Amino acid sequence: MLALARTVGLVGIEAFPVDVEVDMSRGLPSFSMVGLPDNSVRESRERVQAAIANSGFSLPPKKLTVNLAPAGRKKEGPSFDLPIAVGLLAAGGFVSAARVERFAYAGELALDGRVRPVRGMLPMASGITTGLEGLFVPAENASEAAISSPARVIPVRSLQDVANWLQGAEGLFPELPAPELTEPPVYRVDFAEVHGQLQARRALEIAAAGGHNLLMIGPPGAGKTMLAQRLPTILPPLTKTEAIETTMIHSVAGLLPEGVALVRERPFRSPHHTVSTPGLIGGGSNPRPGEVSLAHNGVLFLDELPEFNRSALEAMRQPMESCRVTVSRAVTSTDFPARFMLLAAMNPCPCGYLTHPSRACNCSSSQVQRYLAKISGPLLDRIDIHLEVSPLESKHLGPETEPGEPSLPMRERVATARAIQGERYAGMNDVFCNAGMPPSLLRKHCSIDPAGRKLLDTAASRFGFSARAYCRALRVSRTIADLEGEDRINATHVAEAVQFRALEKDYWV
Ligand SMILES: Nc1ncnc2c1ncn2[C@@H]1O[C@H](COP(=O)(O)OP(=O)(O)O)[C@@H](O)[C@H]1O
Ligand SMILES: [Mg+2]
Repeated sequence: MLALARTVGLVGIEAFPVDVEVDMSRGLPSFSMVGLPDNSVRESRERVQAAIANSGFSLPPKKLTVNLAPAGRKKEGPSFDLPIAVGLLAAGGFVSAARVERFAYAGELALDGRVRPVRGMLPMASGITTGLEGLFVPAENASEAAISSPARVIPVRSLQDVANWLQGAEGLFPELPAPELTEPPVYRVDFAEVHGQLQARRALEIAAAGGHNLLMIGPPGAGKTMLAQRLPTILPPLTKTEAIETTMIHSVAGLLPEGVALVRERPFRSPHHTVSTPGLIGGGSNPRPGEVSLAHNGVLFLDELPEFNRSALEAMRQPMESCRVTVSRAVTSTDFPARFMLLAAMNPCPCGYLTHPSRACNCSSSQVQRYLAKISGPLLDRIDIHLEVSPLESKHLGPETEPGEPSLPMRERVATARAIQGERYAGMNDVFCNAGMPPSLLRKHCSIDPAGRKLLDTAASRFGFSARAYCRALRVSRTIADLEGEDRINATHVAEAVQFRALEKDYWV
């Protein structure tokens, strides 16, 4: 007897419908699986047979063939357990085959028949064939699935649950409430905790407003890490589309915390400097997203930048330009989105104290040069804002000192500037903020008064700007003007923007 159970496969975060065809025929008892299953899918044979037996069904000793169609695409992961098991139950006549076909199934099975949660449920659920009556998923994944599934989501805890439902006990399964998408994020840190550092705060606000990359240079203890950790608190909340995109990536990577269906906070990823190139960029035989993709719609913070593996840093240049990563493997290539703000921090020299107001630095100038040379020109070029951070004197750090401005008003100013950009780039698919403005639009959107133009040209020749650095300074000027609500860029805006590139000349001669 022949049966069909529907499910989905995943490549990266792209889902594609898969039909699990099960044939049960006379012949020597055997169980074969075809249709490009990878090892994890092939192993499901053992789990499925045990789960079926332990759920109280006994499959007849026949020749079993499972085909995963389309046969040309690789199937990966344990989520095929459930559709295969249901297909077998239908082929064996335990549940109605006609009814089984009207639903989709995804989930891993334990040997005792329990259904276990799987990675990637949000993107998977978006890929089921439309027009189905429902999607059976592990209860732990149900709210995630409900966000993107075109069909009703039916949470189940065991294979027996599925069989009961298909045999007509649907009343036992209440309809899942639609997930709440509007809850604001909660932040554990706030800019109020940062004393002084007015220039750094301003630079971070500009970076947040325009989505600009930022590099902080300063001695240990200057507060670089502290400032960086507070950047997410002034970014505008994720839009629903952004939240779904980000959740898809985290779901595929298996990083959604238990009970979380949707990522609500902008990601803040801070990989250790020992991270490998695939860890940073993405990779593996079944490609997984790297840190650049996990930071999609958020912040990638690289603390102690020169300590990172040089080739990993260089590999980041391409995703920084295109906002996507393509991970190629022998047969397939997988695309992951990677639109992130790069936030980097570093000491000015190996000992760290080169620019410290009171401590002496004991590095030779060639040591300093070698240290700085770990950051390549092209990478530096892609960072719009370079910022020197000096440590605060201890008298400004005590508990009696005035707290700094809290994150909320900063976030509101950022949101106002982002709203202007939202209108400016309305209708453009891939551009959301000034940092992403393509060169072809600079003319249209960066109208600049004559004094501003003159200042920019002077600065460009004095600091030896590359064409890319010139455009980046112009984009930062645009953001500063947006923060002020000005349509036209003037000399004050430009002056502030170009000073954020002046450091390059001081350090990297
Ligand atoms: N401006 C500041 N306001 C309040 N505390 C500060 C400030 N700067 C530094 N600190 C304190 O010093 C600690 C070390 O700062 P950190 O961010 O780790 O420095 P860095 O990363 O530059 O080495 C912080 O955890 C914080 O307690
Ligand atoms: Mg630090």
